[in-house]
Order: sequence, then structure tokens, then C-alpha cells
Amino acid sequence: MSKFMEWVDARFPATKMWEDHLSKYYAPKNFNFFYFFGSLALLVLVSQIVTGVWLTMSYNPSAEEAFASVEYIMRDVEYGWILRYLHSTGASAFFVVVYLHMFRGMLYGSYQKPRELVWIFGMLIYLMLMAEAFMGYLLPWGQMSYWGAQVIISLFGAIPVIGADLTQWIRGDYLISGITLNRFFALHVVALPIVILGLVVLHILALHEVGSNNPDGVEIKKKKDANGIPLDGIPFHPYYTVKDIVGVVVFLFIFCFVVFFFPEMGGYFLEKPNFEVANPFKTPAHIAPVWSFTPFYAILRAIPDKLMGVIAMGGAIAVLFVLPWLDRSPVKSMRYKGWLSKIWLLVFCVSFVILGVLGVLSPTPGRTLLSQVCTFLYFAYFILMPFYTRMEKTKPVPERVTG
Ligand code: HEM
Repeated sequence: MSKFMEWVDARFPATKMWEDHLSKYYAPKNFNFFYFFGSLALLVLVSQIVTGVWLTMSYNPSAEEAFASVEYIMRDVEYGWILRYLHSTGASAFFVVVYLHMFRGMLYGSYQKPRELVWIFGMLIYLMLMAEAFMGYLLPWGQMSYWGAQVIISLFGAIPVIGADLTQWIRGDYLISGITLNRFFALHVVALPIVILGLVVLHILALHEVGSNNPDGVEIKKKKDANGIPLDGIPFHPYYTVKDIVGVVVFLFIFCFVVFFFPEMGGYFLEKPNFEVANPFKTPAHIAPVWSFTPFYAILRAIPDKLMGVIAMGGAIAVLFVLPWLDRSPVKSMRYKGWLSKIWLLVFCVSFVILGVLGVLSPTPGRTLLSQVCTFLYFAYFILMPFYTRMEKTKPVPERVTG
């Protein structure tokens, strides 16, 4: 075996890569619960790719056959039902995991210097993930697939001058048709997965260049022993590979429970109108995107003017990109920030969840007012950040990690 590895290493840096990224990558020893979600995001990504490839073997991307081919997968293809439920539940699980992963970053200031690029690559992944989920949702060619896509694509029509041409260009037709389905299929199964995989590689390379942050926000590279090994670091392999397996087992337990017992999740993972084939002549009574998009959908609806609504929705995502430059705090972790930062993060999270709930419901004057208040608070968290992070009194950060 060692002779074989010598032969490989003389031609390809296999051992070097293993050491640089696993056995000699020193990660802080105080990772907590929130540090499970990066490896879980990787797991879900792999699962989506594998189940997606197998679904593609029996799916037919034409307006005439798509809906029936999904039913065929569910009823006739051997184990087709489990492949589909793993993939549809995986889409929602991806967002649960990624939202918790992002929350961890906000909690411990993992986006701060020197990890700005880790965050930016993460945000690009998030953007691509949204595009991937949106395009995938058209593929079953159900009523919600069709009308959800109709609502989202028509938003581009609000852009002055080029709006009308742009929507037509995206659809490739005067209305959403088999042509749109074909191009969404190509993007969903080939182009976007490649982009996402590439970004994940960049995300992890950028992280390993600077090293992981931790719940204390202490830079472990500042304190090294005589051999240049961080005093508070432990090799990623075997310590965190083993720890991550615990996270994987717990995650799979919950995930399988949903796949086997609640794959539709009461209409939130697979919406009821999507069990009816797409009909361009019949608009469903209530159109709502899948839950992972509803906070942004609620921001869109909170603003009466269509163009301003689209700008606010885009702005709500864009502002996350500049987060590393809005936070002026001298400390990273929420453990050592002042109470203003803590309250604002709480306000942000509560507003985000309320917006998510409001985005699922049909609008009433009361709900619209509440979504306007939450939209205001969502943006206030970011816009006021340069001020409250500088004003507040922070606690002294320890030299070494705690616990
Ligand atoms: C497919 C999606 C993603 C995958 C597979 C992924 C993977 C990972 C992995 C394996 C880590 C190291 C382990 C850990 O710290 O948990 C990590 C760290 C990180 N990720 Fe992601 N990530 C994804 C999406 C995102 C997104 C959307 C963001 C934010 C916008 C993000 C921001 C970060 C940050 C800031 C770190 C460093 C955390 C720290 O050191 O404290 N990631 N990611």
C-alpha cells in the first residue's frame, strides 16, 4: 500500500491534500453544536446529486410527459418513490441546514476579517442554491410549479425598459411552456450543480487558507507550540471526522423520519396544488412559493410598488453580501459583544421567521402591516450595524479558547 501511495504521490499530491485538509488541518478544539451544519450541508449536497442523477434516468423533461413521468417514478419505477422523496425532502433539508450554518456565522462573527471570502463564497452558494431550488420546482410540472414560476419570472417584468423582453428571454416563449421547462431542466441538472460544486470547493479552500473560526472568536493561529501547531487546535481527522459522524447519524434519523412519515410535511415540502398537472388556463386560488423563499416573498409583497418590492427583495439578499463590512465590532463572537448586538440579532431572526410565516399566508391588511414592520426591522439590523457595533461596550476576549 505504501509503495502504491509513493507511486501516486510522485505524480499527484494525494497524501499532501489529505494532510493539508484533514489529518494536519488544525481546527479549534471548542467547536459546538452549530459546527455540525457545514459537513451536513456537504452530505445533503451529495445526496441531492446522487438521487437527482437517478431521478433523471426516469424523468421526461417535456410539457406533455413531465407530470406523468413523475407519477411513473412514484408508482412504477423500482424504489422511485424513495428517490423522489429523498430528493424533495433533501431540498427543504438543504435550506434548514444552510440557514442554521449561516446563523452560526452571524452568531460567532465568522464572516469578519480574515474570513470575508469564505462568507462571500457562501453567499454565492446560497444564491445558486435558490436558483437551483426554483428551477427544480418547475420540473414536476404541477399547478404550483407552473404558477410559482409565472409569479417569479414576471417579477423581472418590473424592471424598466428591458423588463418585458427580459421575461420573454428567460421563458424562451410568450408564456411558460415546454421550452421553459427544457431550459430549466438543463440548468437544474447540469449547469447549476457544477457551479455549486465549484463554489463549495472555493468555500472550503478559502476557509482552510485562514483556518476555522470558533464559538469564542479567538484566532487559534496566534498561539502556537514549538512545532508551529496551534495550542488550541486538534487535527480535523480523526477528531472532527468522528464527531461529524455523530451529527450525520442524528441528522439522518430525523431526515428519514420525515422521508418515511411526512414527505409532504402538510403541504410545505410538497404543495397540494402540485398534485394537479400544470394548467395555463386555471390559476390556483392561492399561490405561495416553497417555505425556503417565503421571507423574501413577504418582503416583496410588503411594498405596494412592484419595482420597489423587487428592489427590496433583491436588497434583502444583497445586503448579506456586505455583512463583513457592516460589522465594526472589535470582537467576533456574540459571547463577547454587547447587548445591542445580541438584541439586534434576535430582532433580525424573529423578523425573518415572521416574514417566512407571512409569506405562506394570503395577505390581509393586518398581515401586510406586520410584514412592513418586519421588513423595516430586517433592514434596520444591517443598516444600523456599523453604529451599534462601534457604540456598545464589549467584553474582553480571552487569549485562549474556553471550554
Ligand atoms: C452547499 C452549501 C454549503 C456547504 C456544503 C458548506 C460547507 C462548509 C463547511 C464544510 C465548512 C467548515 C465546517 C463548518 O464550519 O461548519 C463551512 C464553513 C463556513 N461556511 Fe459554509 N457551506 C455552505 C454554504 C454556506 C453559506 C450559504 C454561507 C453563508 C453565506 C456559509 C458560510 C460559512 C462560513 C462563514 C464558514 C466558516 C465558519 C467558521 O469557521 O466559524 N456557508 N462551510
